[in-house]
Amino acid sequence: MKALAAALALTLMSALPALAEVCTPSDIVIKFATVVSATDNPKGIAAQIFADRVNAEMAGKVCVIVYPDSTLYDDDTVLQAMLQGDVQMAAPSLSKFEAFTKVFRLFDLPFLFPDVAAVDAFETAPAGERMKSAMTARGLEGLEFWHSGMKQFSANRPLLRPEDATGLKFRIQPSAVIASEIRALRAQPQSIAFSDVYDALRTGVVDGQENTWSNIYAQKLYAVQDGITETNHGVLEYLVVTSVDFLKSLPPDTRAQLLAILHGVTVERNAAVTAVEAKSRAAILAAGGHIRTLTPEERAQWVAAMQPVWAEFRADVGPDNIEAAQAAGRRPTNDAGTGG
Ligand code: SIN
Repeated sequence: MKALAAALALTLMSALPALAEVCTPSDIVIKFATVVSATDNPKGIAAQIFADRVNAEMAGKVCVIVYPDSTLYDDDTVLQAMLQGDVQMAAPSLSKFEAFTKVFRLFDLPFLFPDVAAVDAFETAPAGERMKSAMTARGLEGLEFWHSGMKQFSANRPLLRPEDATGLKFRIQPSAVIASEIRALRAQPQSIAFSDVYDALRTGVVDGQENTWSNIYAQKLYAVQDGITETNHGVLEYLVVTSVDFLKSLPPDTRAQLLAILHGVTVERNAAVTAVEAKSRAAILAAGGHIRTLTPEERAQWVAAMQPVWAEFRADVGPDNIEAAQAAGRRPTNDAGTGG
């Protein structure tokens, strides 16, 4: 399987535009690494639109090449590579910054945000804005939050009540909060790189996983699971990051133009994310994937089962941040409960 993955990576690499095709010798080159599909995942789509706009509007000054599907780095290595100047931009999920900061643990609290609009409201308010600079002293600058969507559970057997998960092994991202969430279900968490999840499910290394509709679709995870349960129990959010040194090295007008383009793409793509996720959900059904929905009573059982996670991390993430996140979920247009 490793050979197959290597062959796939090679095929993808040869499909990528070579640096020399896109960049001129005078360009400042930005390598933008992602672990996701360039076509089906909201981050992959946003990264490519950002690159296309920079390459058109800043031609001769800056050029951006996107490396999707872990073809350049995976999330375990990309941040160190960024600090060494080997890659200039990436947008790991907020669960992948544990080695640099604990502030993003908030986002992994189960059933905190009822929907992506609540996440947006929190991130664009002062508490969220402040979080972007949580890693400046460690050499990383957060530029923009990118949305992905709500996470769903899947497994190799039907999951309708929390006890259905008992004893199963779940692939997780490297997050202490998500690990605790899985243990609260009396199941076993196992941190596995995103690029290895399909194989891990297919070969039975793990029994289940949690992710967004777009990732479940693009990685074909639905094809190696009994079904997906629409739990909407968590959010998958990204932070677009660069290194403090790289950002400082840019001439001020270049930096301003680049960040303005990034912000424009962020606003546009964050607004489109729900549609991208809905399309992936429909595509899973069309491809024969099985989706289970929960009754309000069943959902309440999942909320209750994961409640202990909040107590464990409340001090860590800060009660003020939790309150701000809950307030974002109670905004006037929202009619769903926070579940927390
Ligand atoms: C991603 O969407 O960037 C990957 C998330 C994961 O590791 O599950």
